[in-house]
Amino acid sequence: MAVRRIARLGEPGLRRVASKIEAEQFGSAGLQALVNDLIETMRAVSGAGLAAPQIFENVAVCVIEVKKNTRYPMFPEIPLSVLVNPVLTPLPGHHGSIAIFEGCLSVPGLRGRVVRPRAVQLSALTPTGEPIERQVIGVEAAILQHEVDHLLGSLFVDKADPRSLTFLEEFEQFVPVEERVTEQL
Ligand code: NI
Repeated sequence: MAVRRIARLGEPGLRRVASKIEAEQFGSAGLQALVNDLIETMRAVSGAGLAAPQIFENVAVCVIEVKKNTRYPMFPEIPLSVLVNPVLTPLPGHHGSIAIFEGCLSVPGLRGRVVRPRAVQLSALTPTGEPIERQVIGVEAAILQHEVDHLLGSLFVDKADPRSLTFLEEFEQFVPVEERVTEQL
């Protein structure tokens, strides 16, 4: 296990579509080592999630977890998910939207308001190839979308309202707590 260096905005690898993990790689020591590094790195830097391209690995693997997170004190606790080849689709029916002042370990010091679907269907595999199918709603759905965007070469600054962009110090000073996460039904 190792805490890995994190790619920053401008690194070309952050703009590539990640390769899917191939069938023969499931259950391999290499894939498990990558997952361990993702988890260790995410926890070391208090991320709410981390995608493999952010540690210079161009494959479709990401992790999310929130445990009393100092970077996002307004987030609920979310158990660890390890997702291989994740695909998100909006849930059918009307489930509203969620807007969060997002940040990203690859865009240090910046926050910006991103509006996303509030509910998604997650289809993914575990590192040993077991299927994961579940509906995700609210903050966890937004975090998942942020991480899966990384696997598609997209960063939150692509989707944030440009006029909402703010450095962290100004975010703390000027964005009221009640505006940091808002859900619209
Ligand atoms: Ni990110």
